Amino acid sequence: MSAQEANEIIEDQVRTLLAQMTLEEKVGQMTQIDFSVISVENGQDAENPIDPAKLENAIFNHHVGSILNTPTTPNNKAQPIQKWRHMTQTIRELAAKTRLKIPVIYGIDAIHGATYTQNSVLFPQAISMAATFNTELSFKTGEITAREVKASGLDWNFSPVMDIGRQPLWPRLWETYGEDVHLSSALGSAFIQGHQGDDFAQADKAPTCLKHYVGYSYPLNGKDRSPAWIGERALREYFLPSFAAGVKAGAPTVMINSAEVDGIPGHANYQYLTTILRGEMGFKGFTVSDWEDIIRLYTRDKMAASPRQAVKIAVMAGVDMSMVPFDFSFYDLLLDLAKTGEVPMSRIDEAVSRILRVKYQSGLFDRTEPALAVEGNFVTDEAVAVNRQAAREAIVLAKNDRQILPLSKQASILVTGPTANLLSVMNGGWTITWQGSKEELYPQDKLTLLKAIQQKTSGKVTYVGGKNFSDEINIEQAVNAARQHDVVVLALGEKPYTETEGNIESLNLDPLQLQLARAIFEIGKPVVLITFGGRPRIITEIADKAQAVVLGFLPGMEGGSAMADILFGDVNPSGKLPISYPRQTNDVVPYDHKPLEAYEGNQYRPLYPFAHGLSYTSFATNGLRLSTDQIELGESIDVTVNVKNTGARTGKEAVLVYLHDAAASVTRPVKQLKAFKKVELAPGQEQSLQFTLTPQDMSLIGIDMQRVVEAGEFKVMVGHETAEFKVVKH
Ligand code: GLC
Repeated sequence: MSAQEANEIIEDQVRTLLAQMTLEEKVGQMTQIDFSVISVENGQDAENPIDPAKLENAIFNHHVGSILNTPTTPNNKAQPIQKWRHMTQTIRELAAKTRLKIPVIYGIDAIHGATYTQNSVLFPQAISMAATFNTELSFKTGEITAREVKASGLDWNFSPVMDIGRQPLWPRLWETYGEDVHLSSALGSAFIQGHQGDDFAQADKAPTCLKHYVGYSYPLNGKDRSPAWIGERALREYFLPSFAAGVKAGAPTVMINSAEVDGIPGHANYQYLTTILRGEMGFKGFTVSDWEDIIRLYTRDKMAASPRQAVKIAVMAGVDMSMVPFDFSFYDLLLDLAKTGEVPMSRIDEAVSRILRVKYQSGLFDRTEPALAVEGNFVTDEAVAVNRQAAREAIVLAKNDRQILPLSKQASILVTGPTANLLSVMNGGWTITWQGSKEELYPQDKLTLLKAIQQKTSGKVTYVGGKNFSDEINIEQAVNAARQHDVVVLALGEKPYTETEGNIESLNLDPLQLQLARAIFEIGKPVVLITFGGRPRIITEIADKAQAVVLGFLPGMEGGSAMADILFGDVNPSGKLPISYPRQTNDVVPYDHKPLEAYEGNQYRPLYPFAHGLSYTSFATNGLRLSTDQIELGESIDVTVNVKNTGARTGKEAVLVYLHDAAASVTRPVKQLKAFKKVELAPGQEQSLQFTLTPQDMSLIGIDMQRVVEAGEFKVMVGHETAEFKVVKH
C-alpha cells in the first residue's frame, strides 16, 4: 500500500469516528492529565499506582485523550518496566471499554533514553549528542529510545527539543543541540527519523514531539520561563528553522513554549501557532500545551480575565490539546465554551481530528497490549554499545598542553572535585526523577569518573571528595594528597537540574570549586581539569593553569567509562563544541555573530570557539574547490574538500562547511555552518568529501521578512581554506 493510500484510509477513519463522537468525547480528547490524577496516594512507591475509580472517572466521565508523566508528581521516579507495562495496559483496557474505544495516548519525557523506566539505556543529553557532530549516532539513539519507550508500554515521546541554545544561562541549554541552526536541525531530524522510521505505528517506533515551539530558549535574563524579545527576522533566521526541519522530518506533534515572546505568551500566539506553524510550515499534527500553561494565561500572565477566557484564547490561538494537568477544569470550561458557541465546533473538530489522526498513525487503535516485548528490545548489548560510543564522541578535549593526555596507566592519580564520583552530574535532569538529582536511585553498575579511572589504571588512585555534590571537600587533605601523586584529575561543574529549579544569577563557577582549584594549582603538579554539567560555567582562570581541559557536559550513563577511555588513550576524542564557551559570564557572543559584534573593541573571543575540539591525532583539510565560481539565482553549488589524518593514530573528524554572504540587504553573520560530515581516518589516510550548498543555504530573511536569495558574493570556508563564488541574477 502506498503512503498516499495509507493516509487516505486514516483520513476516512478520522472522519468516520469524528462523526460518531459526542461533544463530551471530543473535548475529552483535547484533555491531557498527569498520572497523579489517576494515582493512589504515593503512587510512585505503590505496587499498583492506579486508583481504579479515579481512572474510570477520567476515562468514562471525562473521556481524557492523553495521560502523561510518572507516578507521582512531584515525587515522581522511574518505574520498573514490568510495572510500566502493567499500568499502561490497565489504561489501554479501560479505554477499550468506552463507547467508541478511542485509545489514550500516553506521553513521556524520554529525552535521553527512556528516562523514567528503571535501568533503561540513558544516552548523552542533547548538548552532548550535538558535540558528537554525528547524525548517524543521533539516528541510532532515536531508534533505541523508541524501542525502550514502546517496550515500556508507552506511546509518545516529548522529544526532541528543537529550541536553539544561544543563552548559556538558561537552565535548559543542555536540552538543546546548541547554538547553531544547521547542527540542531540535522541532529534533531536524525533523531526523529530514527525514532519514527517510515511508519511510527510499527511496534518499535513511536511518535516524537517538537518542543518548545518557539523562542523559549532565549530569555533575555537567562531565567527559565521568562520573557524573550525576539524580532521577526531573528525568529525566522534562528528560531523557526529547526522546527521547520522537525516538521519536515515528520514529527506529528508540537509542544508549545511555556513563556512569552515579544509580550505574547506562546499559548496565546495565533501568528506562531496557526499562521506560521500551519500556514507556512504545513504542520498537520497536533499541538499540545506545556505544563499548566493554559490556566497560567490567567494565573500568571494576567492576559486572561478568567480561567474560562484562558481556555478560549488558547484553543482559538491553535492549542489542540491541554496539558492541564491536575484536574478536569479545561474539559469543563471548553465544554461550556462549545455549548455557547464561543469556541466554534469547527475548531473543536479540527483539533480532535488532528489528535485522532496521530493516534491512528501511531497504530493505537489496533493495539491491545504493549507493542513490544521487553526481551530483545530493552537494554540490549547493541544499545549499550551505541551509548558508550555516543559518550565517547560527545566528550570534548579542549586543551592538552605538552600532550599530558593520554595518561599513563602506571601514573599515580589524585582524583578530587564535586563531580568526580557521581552519576547524576553526568546525566542531568529528566533522569530517573524530574531533576535527576536522586543519586541513590541511579544504577549501581554504572561507573562514575572515579570508579572508571580506578577500574582502568594499575597506578595508584586516591580520591579526596565527598559523597554528595554539596559535600565540602577538605582542601588541605586534597592538596597534601596531590603532593604525593603524579597528576591531579580535578572534576568540577554543576549538579543536575532542569527548568526553573536550575535558574542561576551568574555563569561563574561555585566559589568553593574555584578555591579548591586554586589551592591545587599552588603546588605545581600537572592538573587535568574535567567539567560535567549542562551549562558552560566560567573556568577561564583555572583552564589557563590546567595542562589539560576536558569538557564532559552531560555524557549520560556511560560518561564515566567514556571519559576514562579518553583520559588513558583507549579512545581518541572527537567531540566538538556545539556552543561558544564564554570567557566571561557576560561574554555571550555566538560564532555566527554579526560584523558589528567584532568591530573595533568588540570581538568574538570565547574561551573555546564553536566547533572547537582536539584529538590525539591531527587532521588537515586541503584542496577546497567549488564546481563553479558563478551560479544563477536558484542554483546550487558543489563543494569538494580533502581531509587527511596527519597524525600518528586513527581518529574521527567532523569536517564543517561554513558560508558567508558578503553583502546583503540585511546584515549577515560572519559565517554560518551549512554542512558537515564526520569521517574516521587512519594515520596518513586522506578522503575527499563532497557537499552541495543549495539556495536554502544561501538564503536570508530579507527586508520584507521573506526568505530570499540575493545576488552577490559568497565565501565558502572549510578549515583554513576559503573559496568564493557569485550568485548572479539575469
Ligand atoms: C515540562 C517541560 C516540558 C515537558 C513537560 C511534560 O514543564 O517544560 O519539556 O515535556 O513539562 O513533562
